[in-house]
Amino acid sequence: MRAVILIGGMGTRLRPFTLETPKPLLPVMNRPFLEYQFQILSRHGVREVVLCTSYRAETFRRAFGTGRRLGLKISYVRERIPLGTGGALKNAEPYLKGTTLALNGDVLNAFDLGAFLKFHRARRAEISIALTRVKDPTRYGLVITDEKGMVRRFLEKPSWDEVVSNSINAGAYLFEPSVFAHLPPGKPYSLERGLFPERLAAGARIAGYVAPGYWIDIGSVEAYLQVHLDLLQGLAPFKPGPRARPFKNSDGARVTAGAGTTAAPFVRFSGSVSLGAKVRIGRGAQLTDCVVLDGAVIGDGARLERCVVGPKARIGTHAVLGPGTALAGGSSVGDYSQL
Ligand code: GDD
Ligand code: MG
Repeated sequence: MRAVILIGGMGTRLRPFTLETPKPLLPVMNRPFLEYQFQILSRHGVREVVLCTSYRAETFRRAFGTGRRLGLKISYVRERIPLGTGGALKNAEPYLKGTTLALNGDVLNAFDLGAFLKFHRARRAEISIALTRVKDPTRYGLVITDEKGMVRRFLEKPSWDEVVSNSINAGAYLFEPSVFAHLPPGKPYSLERGLFPERLAAGARIAGYVAPGYWIDIGSVEAYLQVHLDLLQGLAPFKPGPRARPFKNSDGARVTAGAGTTAAPFVRFSGSVSLGAKVRIGRGAQLTDCVVLDGAVIGDGARLERCVVGPKARIGTHAVLGPGTALAGGSSVGDYSQL
């Protein structure tokens, strides 16, 4: 089976980090996020992957090349203007055959692809959608199924008064080849707001597979931080980057760091902390549940809690970065600042 991954979005909710780097290439514990999805595919024997690119398209080929290093064969399809999730899929049609697995490029889902495929076949579905349960369905696509697992209704980004269940589209699909005839070529079109409700209204068989296990969409700064905390706590079965190492000096906290990262004496870590490569942490700094990307410099006595520090940012001595701070790469925070 071949897989197609939709990675053309602009990642607006993850700015400032996505101004430089598209969301699927943002590092998570010293490895581009998309490589975690590749782990799932490899585990299930999927070797041929098509990447549908648009925003900062060239950066993906630079990161993954032919895919050989990762044990994959990667093809790239580029949209000159963003074609939406449906238009992107249509664009990839020449590269696909048979039943196709499609994935959103910003979700991490430790699910069993074999079981998903079996479910799809047993339902004789034209489209199957993996579902997961979340606390706040208003940020996602609500999918309502009957007792046999067939989809009855779609509500993309519902308001709270429309929320009738907590099963949402987890961003993983199986498509039969017949679906492509219903995708308009060369123009923006949405799977979630176009194809799915239209095929449902036309009487097509669409099934919803509740995928057990870990799931996250890393599309917001808060979620990007959260995926690090989850991985560090061992909540999701994925391997961090080859150069990410448990960090010395971490008394009880869960800390990883990339190569060349140093911490001066009296640095205190608590909770879960992910440090990139070549990060420098000054004397007596305190870091709690945070992410610091490559080359950032943290001044003496600075305090960071539940925040994300972009690459090469400089934080002055005794500065305080509170929960929710998203510090752009290369920016500078003066001594004693409080954010
Ligand atoms: N190639 C291409 N072209 N990819 C795109 C485009 C485009 O024009 N627009 C979006 N994508 C990619 C994004 O890069 C992302 O990986 C994926 O499609 C989904 O887009 P998001 O912008 O992240 O959508 P969302 O998170 O608001 O909602 C979607 O995902 C939820 C699960 O995480 C929907 O599918 C929801 O129904 C779903 O619940
Ligand atoms: Mg998303």
